[in-house]
Amino acid sequence: MNTNELKEKFLTFFESKGHKRIPSAPLIPENDPTVLFTTAGMHPLVPFLMGQPHPLGKRLCDVQKCIRTGDIDETGDSFHHTFFEMLGNWSLGDYFKEEAITWSFEFLTSKEWLGLPLERLAFSCFAGDEDAPKDEESAGFWYALGVPKERLVFLPKKHNWWGPAGEYGPCGPDTEMFYWKLNDTPAPKEFDPDDDNWVEIWNNVFMQYEKTQEGFIPLKQQNVDTGMGVERVAAVLQGLEDNYRTEAFWQLIEKIQELSGKTYEEKTREMRIIADHIRAAVFVLSDGVVPSNLDQGYILRRFIRRSIRHGRTLGMNNFCKELGSLVMNMYEGQYEFGTKHICSELEKEEKKFLSTLEKGIREFERVASKMSEYNQTEISGKTAFLLFQSYGFPLEMTEELATERNMTVDTEKFHKHFKNHQEVSRQGAEQKFKGGLADAKEQTIRLHTATHLLNEALRKVLSPDIKQKGSNINAERLRFDFNFERKLTDEEKQAVEAEVNRLIQEGIPVERSEMSYDEAMNMGAQAEFGAKYPEVVSVYKIGDYSLELCGGPHVQNTKEIGVFKIKKEQSSAAGIRRIKAVVE
Ligand code: ALA
Repeated sequence: MNTNELKEKFLTFFESKGHKRIPSAPLIPENDPTVLFTTAGMHPLVPFLMGQPHPLGKRLCDVQKCIRTGDIDETGDSFHHTFFEMLGNWSLGDYFKEEAITWSFEFLTSKEWLGLPLERLAFSCFAGDEDAPKDEESAGFWYALGVPKERLVFLPKKHNWWGPAGEYGPCGPDTEMFYWKLNDTPAPKEFDPDDDNWVEIWNNVFMQYEKTQEGFIPLKQQNVDTGMGVERVAAVLQGLEDNYRTEAFWQLIEKIQELSGKTYEEKTREMRIIADHIRAAVFVLSDGVVPSNLDQGYILRRFIRRSIRHGRTLGMNNFCKELGSLVMNMYEGQYEFGTKHICSELEKEEKKFLSTLEKGIREFERVASKMSEYNQTEISGKTAFLLFQSYGFPLEMTEELATERNMTVDTEKFHKHFKNHQEVSRQGAEQKFKGGLADAKEQTIRLHTATHLLNEALRKVLSPDIKQKGSNINAERLRFDFNFERKLTDEEKQAVEAEVNRLIQEGIPVERSEMSYDEAMNMGAQAEFGAKYPEVVSVYKIGDYSLELCGGPHVQNTKEIGVFKIKKEQSSAAGIRRIKAVVE
């Protein structure tokens, strides 16, 4: 069964159980400043897990694009990826453990669906602690379906608890399903979760708690959140022990073999890294990020530059665009890509980096050899910073080069140099991963509503043809991209600012309603071009001024927003301008 058939089967199965399909949300979380990327299907659904009604009801299913930056270093083995697709079924305060477990079992084992033999499956449930009891209930449902006792283990929070996605939010105990991946060795009678031949294939999370600053409290409703990795499960179903041999990657590996003249067997790790990172880069670019030294742009830069460095060791140059186009062909019809833009960004970044890569590598080697002479093993922060500043080496690349020579990098000093020279914003990538947002929520909501007003104000002041081309909000600022051919004059910026502030001062109520997508379009609602929306959508109306498709949340009245200020207006891509603004 290939990946497309698997995705379709999953969605069809859950539709037969009363679920509605929802499209994948973008990879860049729209209203959550605590994380850089959507890491799981639950991420975009947090407001609905917390009790906000979803326009399509209480049972949903989807294929969500995800990026887990925590897995960058792991990438290169047979089953870790940075970008992957996650299948999920959702109960928003509707069914709970019994149905979720029964359906998981049916989907996995029934001949009509995946038809996996029970002899090759194992299970885990939450062992219990001071926050929540041992999950005997889930185990009982598995036993009732025929799962033998020795194939089910109870594990602590570290393994069998999921969420929250940031520091606070919905979370709960989970039950996980594992598959014995070896074809020629029968699965042992007893399940040993430390044996890597048992691959986790599905996770059912029973989201019934909220983690708050004070601890875990029960949520208003009991939810189910599940996650099944498409690439992994496709590999299992195809009897492969290597995800890169599934069609999610294999065409890319073949192309890399062709371009490099080397074989996958010889250069497995390098080829996996290139295939994974270029695939991830294409998806990040398609959600409006461009390479930079900050936040998502920095991760994107790392993906591309790391591919280029490994490509170089295979003797490949100028390959990013070609591999990128292949990724877009592989997913044609499933996602919208801005093909021309993506190719040109990949090409631009590759040219930029290639112009300094050789010299940088020579500099690194010079320093490393000298250090070996003196038996030193730690590359100084100053050298790492020089490699970053003059040769465009992301710190992590220098670390990787160092590891290959059994050396380390003084990253602390690197960051000091970095701070001194660049006054790196507190919103930098590292901080964000640590989460820590609850207090930032209010500000984010204000900025979110301000974004709707800005959208309209631009149309009013500049041109009715203006459309939103992307937006990103964190607790510090909003960022808004739109089509416009030239730089805004100071007068235009002031006029836009004044218009938004006028609407704020007017104290207009913000109202939410639900309607069909077509109805919303007929009413002239704004929607982001290229984004996919479900059939029934939620629409936010700000007086007679603004009508936009949007999942929220928003303030209830514009006067809660504060004073709106444009901080920056710049070019984002050809024909696209970007505004950064704050509310104070
Ligand atoms: N949110 C759960 C996961 O990502 C399903 O594993």
